[in-house]
Amino acid sequence: MNKKVLVTGGAGYIGSHVVRQLGEAGYDVVVYDNCSTGSPQSVLHGKLIVGDLADTDHLHQVFANHEFSAVLHFAASISVPESLAHPLDYYANNTCNTLNLLRCCSIMGIKQLIFSSTAAVYGEVESNPVTESTPTQPINPYGRSKLMSEWLIQDYAAASDLRYVILRYFNVAGAEPGGRLGQRLPKVTHLIGSACDAALKRRSQVAIFGTDFSTPDGTGIRDYIHVEDLATAHLDALRYLEQGGNSEILNCGYGQGYSVRQVMERVKAISGVDFPVIETCRRPGDPECVTACADKIRKVLDWQPKYNDLDTIVSTTLKWEMQREGFASSNFGVETPATSIGLAVRGNAASV
Ligand code: UD1
Repeated sequence: MNKKVLVTGGAGYIGSHVVRQLGEAGYDVVVYDNCSTGSPQSVLHGKLIVGDLADTDHLHQVFANHEFSAVLHFAASISVPESLAHPLDYYANNTCNTLNLLRCCSIMGIKQLIFSSTAAVYGEVESNPVTESTPTQPINPYGRSKLMSEWLIQDYAAASDLRYVILRYFNVAGAEPGGRLGQRLPKVTHLIGSACDAALKRRSQVAIFGTDFSTPDGTGIRDYIHVEDLATAHLDALRYLEQGGNSEILNCGYGQGYSVRQVMERVKAISGVDFPVIETCRRPGDPECVTACADKIRKVLDWQPKYNDLDTIVSTTLKWEMQREGFASSNFGVETPATSIGLAVRGNAASV
């Protein structure tokens, strides 16, 4: 019999890529998602249960109705500016709901957990690359709510036989090369999405937030990781726990940084559109440079990324953005796998 796993937030950007890979790997997947930002269309495998982690009765019922061998916990709020404006909502949705989930895990004796954390737990870093032992000093409620969730998981694991893998994501970008999955945001604010929007003429220009950093070209540097490789890290983590691996915290990045100017240049080159770029002052709270030391994840999970290339990240994002709005399609150099059947596939999601 296939192993049955619970994926909270499986209708969202990263969760939906993981659900697709879990389905292809033969797992029986149950997605629990309130669909506030996720979409039922993104659930390409398994069963979707529309529900909120704050609804503890419903959550208990879902655990009682299924025998899960592991839980993958993605459901969360993810915007730093929003977390500054509404901190209590972030602690409720991210921290308190993780507690609700852990209570169910405790009652049902779940022994394996994979948790979506973020590089935001590190805050202002003094040196790069960032290792897992770099001090955690989050500077906003989003990062703090995630770090508190990490502590809940660690404390509960110390008092039980739960084993976990906490994955700290760096800058996640890109989309499924087949074009079925990607980020569905009504308003894009992150760099690669914004530049792709400009290339697709959905905005008139894109701004560089700060050109006076002490980096080679004066603009901010980040470690962009393709969402497919990040999804694969989750499957590797799951197999690692299934084989008896110890609890771990692992950075998810490539260990390579790109500047804002480099990203703009690649989006222009790949799209063939010379969109206007303006230079403005720094965005409050933006660190100069954040790159991951990715040695540990490669060693512990034998993680072998396949899309470690800025051009692939950009081209898959462009392809997704074109398709999701129904624009005339161009492949932007993306090879579509033979297995892909494009947007006609909607999976077998069913809400209960
Ligand atoms: C991203 C995540 C954040 C996560 C963090 C972890 C997003 C939206 N945010 O933040 O949740 O905690 O990584 O490291 O994915 N920039 C511009 N112009 C723009 C947009 C951005 O110049 O229009 C610059 C920023 O100043 C920064 C870089 O591009 O230097 C990346 O910014 P962004 O894509 O917003 O991600 P982060 O802020 O790094």
